[in-house]
Amino acid sequence: MNFAPVEKNRRASPTSRRRYEKLIAFAVAALLATSFPVYGQNADPNVPSLLLGAAWYPEQWPESRWEADLQLMEDAHLHVVRVGEFAWSTLEPSQGHYNLDWLARAIRLAEKHHIAVVIGTPTDAPPAWLTSAHPETLRVDADGHRAEHGGRRQFNYASPEYRVFCVAIVAQLARRFGHDPDVIGWQIGNEYTDESFDTGTRRLFHEWLQRKYKTLDSLNSAWTTAYWSQTYDRWDEIPLPTAGGNPGLLLDHKRFVSDTWRSFQRAQIDAIRKYAEPRQFITTNIGGLGWSDNWDHYEITRDLDIASWDDYVGEGSLNVARNGAMHDFARGWKRQNFWVMETQPGSVNWAPINTTLDRGETSAMAWQAVGHGADAVLYWQWRDALNGQEQYHGALVGPDGTPLPIYSEIRDIGGDFELAAAALKGTKPMAQVAIVVTYDSRWAIDFQPHNKNYDQLGILLDYYRPLRDAGYTVDIIGADAPLDGYKLVLAPDLNVISKDLATHLLAYVQQGGHLLLGPRSGMKDEHNALNVERQPGPLVAPLGGRVEQYYALDGIVPVAGALGTGTVTQWAEQLSTSAPDAEVMFRYGKSNGWLDNQPAMISRPVGRGRISYLGAVLNPDLMRQVISWAATDAGVQAEFGQVANGVEVCRRVGGSHTVYVFINHGHTQAHVALPSGLHDVLHGGESAKAIDLAAQGVAVFTTGTYESKAR
Ligand code: GLA
Repeated sequence: MNFAPVEKNRRASPTSRRRYEKLIAFAVAALLATSFPVYGQNADPNVPSLLLGAAWYPEQWPESRWEADLQLMEDAHLHVVRVGEFAWSTLEPSQGHYNLDWLARAIRLAEKHHIAVVIGTPTDAPPAWLTSAHPETLRVDADGHRAEHGGRRQFNYASPEYRVFCVAIVAQLARRFGHDPDVIGWQIGNEYTDESFDTGTRRLFHEWLQRKYKTLDSLNSAWTTAYWSQTYDRWDEIPLPTAGGNPGLLLDHKRFVSDTWRSFQRAQIDAIRKYAEPRQFITTNIGGLGWSDNWDHYEITRDLDIASWDDYVGEGSLNVARNGAMHDFARGWKRQNFWVMETQPGSVNWAPINTTLDRGETSAMAWQAVGHGADAVLYWQWRDALNGQEQYHGALVGPDGTPLPIYSEIRDIGGDFELAAAALKGTKPMAQVAIVVTYDSRWAIDFQPHNKNYDQLGILLDYYRPLRDAGYTVDIIGADAPLDGYKLVLAPDLNVISKDLATHLLAYVQQGGHLLLGPRSGMKDEHNALNVERQPGPLVAPLGGRVEQYYALDGIVPVAGALGTGTVTQWAEQLSTSAPDAEVMFRYGKSNGWLDNQPAMISRPVGRGRISYLGAVLNPDLMRQVISWAATDAGVQAEFGQVANGVEVCRRVGGSHTVYVFINHGHTQAHVALPSGLHDVLHGGESAKAIDLAAQGVAVFTTGTYESKAR
């Protein structure tokens, strides 16, 4: 993994705000001009650059019905549909007999209604003729059971035989639609989920390990296989881990799974790129509510033009912080704007209790996505199939073909998206603060949580929420992301810190950044072996301190320091300092005798920056103090400043203008004071001194000037 060099980074001086704004505007203009091709555009001037849409399955309905559906979509200001990702048996009823004309007719009809099309490759659900003739294309689960036809995700992601069939159908689609003016993009498969444990995949794992380690000696040493006499004499002795195992083996298997999905995807990307115009983007819709860690999302999105994810609430109400963080996570996969390829039109069918979002909440959710960098939001689904496993799922149109109650709310969103498209075009969230999340560290802790209550997502949100409440834009990024321009970098659970990663982080600090490491940081190296320096591994020396011992907690430990007092749960690390300028920020109170009065947080100036290490999971209020201290110390500039509770402010920056999206996630009206000079995008005209946002209400304002064309 190569790490981008860090540019010069100065601490905040009084005049820096104006210089900072100018710098940002200049940087954005340069960035936008050079690096981000504009995706998601067809030739139709009526299709705006901010898209609202739905998943549509014309193969499930009589062709005579299509016109009415597309007219209803147009009436709801929908301008994009995704089609085809489950249509293999209709596209290829028997081997080598392709039937694509119906899809061509559906696309022409969509075009007539100013609706652009994203084609999904149908490889998540192979037809019965394929798997019955080639059972090796079916996945085998960890218990050795081979999957059967009748559902989906039954395919074997590693099967070379399956890939031949996938590439064949995808090539047919790309040859036919690669130059179609109304086709703006492709989605590979659907929500990559389950790997396979068949003998063929096991052989491929061995080959993968051999390419990585070259010799069994280096593998045995990296995994310390002398332990429990695990030593391997032949590659084919190495198991596919099903339940637990050597941490080195487990981590490498996860990397193998990520690489295998990437090559599965790559085969289809190559087939599409062979025929399709470069303007047609290629993505895949990432499921698992964004946070799933079946495989590495950074690795998988590397080969894609844009990232997209499926944003569902499931049961209950929108968790504003969690959902915002998942958008920022999705944006961080490729560090650019993304798509919400699927989201719920009110309700789903797979949650324990499939509650429906309150009126207005679907709109608030759509605008939250846009505020965090989404350039398109698509509902799953337009209309539930009359039969099949998802008859109860939320939809816009009922079995009779007429709108369901949610249709009107989505139509309003569509109208507003059209109004706001011009203002949002070419803008993206720009952050001064980043949170580093790596899959190596997530997996390493998941393999050995050591405390069943250890909640990595909960801890991430404890770092994230105070930043968002203070109105800061937050990037969530991977280990190799360039750290330039960030005043503050937080790493809540960076368990795996290799020497390379340490060098990358240290360079950032030395050039003026403030790095705040969280608990369990730097315990492991890239082989998931213990770092001999103790925590935080290669960063012990620059930190001027280390972790003497970690303690899993089943109770509460008091803690106090310059920034306040509070409690610690789940995990506490006894820290020590070895450098005179390493400052103790917090000490534990009376506890288990080991932690009593020991350092819980230390911080040290290093180069032009600072490294801090917080070895405890603090209560949210005290965490808020720590984050606010770190942000101030790092010179993070206020973006919009404090707003009423329950109101979220999102900022997107363009070459010559800035857009603010205000969303009242509360259940009562909220009053928001506004600076002068803002332009009201949804209602026109200059903004008043303040607005009263209704419950779930949204307002969009801009500063600066922009082209008024909606595309
Ligand atoms: C996923 C899938 C869709 C559909 C929805 C239901 O995200 O991609 O095909 O099953 O869930 O919520």
